[in-house]
Amino acid sequence: MKRIAITGGAQGIGAATAREFAAKGHSVVIGDIDAKLVAETAGAIASDTGATVVGLPLDVTDAAAFATFLDKVEAELGGLDVLVNNAGIMPTGPFLDETDGVSDRQIDINVRAVVVGSKLAGRRFAERGHGQIVNVASAAGLVAAPGVAVYCATKFAVVGLGDALDQELSPLGVTVTTICPGYVNTQLIAGVKQPWLVRKIAFVEPEAISNAIVSSVEKNHGGLRLVPFRANAMVAPMRLLPAAVRHLVAHATGVHDAGINTDESARQAYRDRTEHLDLATTRSRQTATKKQSTK
Ligand SMILES: NC(=O)c1ccc[n+]([C@@H]2O[C@H](COP(=O)([O-])OP(=O)(O)OC[C@H]3O[C@@H](n4cnc5c(N)ncnc54)[C@H](O)[C@@H]3O)[C@@H](O)[C@H]2O)c1
Repeated sequence: MKRIAITGGAQGIGAATAREFAAKGHSVVIGDIDAKLVAETAGAIASDTGATVVGLPLDVTDAAAFATFLDKVEAELGGLDVLVNNAGIMPTGPFLDETDGVSDRQIDINVRAVVVGSKLAGRRFAERGHGQIVNVASAAGLVAAPGVAVYCATKFAVVGLGDALDQELSPLGVTVTTICPGYVNTQLIAGVKQPWLVRKIAFVEPEAISNAIVSSVEKNHGGLRLVPFRANAMVAPMRLLPAAVRHLVAHATGVHDAGINTDESARQAYRDRTEHLDLATTRSRQTATKKQSTK
């Protein structure tokens, strides 16, 4: 039985992962910026599985709150064996139209928080000589596409971070796993067109990703895993092609404009909850926390 913390666990891949860990008898704490939903999700999983599942509010962009969250996880579960850095957002649209606030928010959530979480958990794990960090990156961290430029930049960063940490932390007993999902049926891709070939090769339900995360933890497997595995048939050759040929293939398969020609009515609810957050509030709270800690 392992003690697991998952960020962004109120819905989507994080919630599916919490459910699968709980169903297998592991103890789980999920943290999420949506305080109401995370409590509801944890309650539902706990009552369905009978496992210990706790939901806590967490904004991963607040480093001090992230540290406090991990303290609370250790208090709730009697320790921590695994941190899954899953929280992430994917705004879509032309790069030149993206506000600085939305670009910053992706960098804050998708990269900075993964660095912070990996460091916070990594130090605890290294001290004890065991533990596992699972970072949820993306196939967009292996092959880039227009319409999601900053998102791709953040996920390429997470892939690089994971590869470096897998090498650096394994001698300390810390396993680092990077999961790269393809297209997963969550609200994150609402209104994003799925070209036929991509749908055939890379589209999966959240349970395919949770299954990969849980099995990587149960087998203590580090390294990178693209899910579904069959997506390697497209991603691996794409990474070897010269850029000009790769771009032609992206055009031919329809990947090229998937992030630009979105169905906006289907995408609105996702945009509302991820892009219209009060960034100023987050920033001023971070500054206040910094001031407090330097007193
Ligand atoms: N759905 C896909 O097709 C897909 C593909 C590749 C990678 N991913 C990655 O998988 C991860 C999960 O995505 P998903 O599809 O389940 O999305 P989702 O939107 O369904 O769930 C993401 C969760 O993260 C939470 N969250 C957002 N900002 C947060 C913050 N600042 N602090 C704490 N929690 C926060 C949200 O409230 C939400 O509950 C993300 O990192 C995403 O980039 C998703």
